Amino acid sequence: MTLKQAKELVRSRLSDQRYEHTLNVKKMAVKLAKRYGADEEQAALAALLHDAAKEISKDEMRAIMRAYPEYAEGGEERPTPVWHGICAAILARTEWGVEDEAVLSAIACHTAGKPGMSRLDKILYLADMTSAERDWSGVNKLRRLERNDLDAAMLVALKQTNDFVLSQGKPLDPMSKAAYEDIQAQVEARAGTACGSSD
Ligand SMILES: [Fe+2]
Ligand SMILES: [Fe+2]
Repeated sequence: MTLKQAKELVRSRLSDQRYEHTLNVKKMAVKLAKRYGADEEQAALAALLHDAAKEISKDEMRAIMRAYPEYAEGGEERPTPVWHGICAAILARTEWGVEDEAVLSAIACHTAGKPGMSRLDKILYLADMTSAERDWSGVNKLRRLERNDLDAAMLVALKQTNDFVLSQGKPLDPMSKAAYEDIQAQVEARAGTACGSSD
């Protein structure tokens, strides 16, 4: 699927507001890809498709995940806000001709994160939280951080998201908890190495 085709597809599937969000996420994802030497086309495609299943019903999402249990990542058992990313990845793989596993992974985990996130996974996760129209308190701080340190930004981003979910009294996806612990361990190990090397 080309970027042009992806753009046309999501234009037909999304409201004006979510389409704008999608274009802003694409801009931010490409910017981060440039900054961190990731593939800009992969970042653009993942960003364009990330919310492509956000405006279908829960029943439709459930049907998609049931039709492709091998790609559903335990979706039905997981909190419903996570479903649209999993479903977008399934549709991209099975209907829209996206074969790039890196792109499919970034789409699938853009809401919850997961342990062992790739650079592209992190770029999409952060781009979705810091796209131009986002105005949550702390977004500017995260924008500054993500320009300098992808993992430090992920640590802040996952904490922010997980704390928000818990503050709403909603269940936290175990993947989100695992994603946070994984990044935390990596950032701590890096800090330890940095301290060790300065001895
Ligand atoms: Fe999303
Ligand atoms: Fe989004």
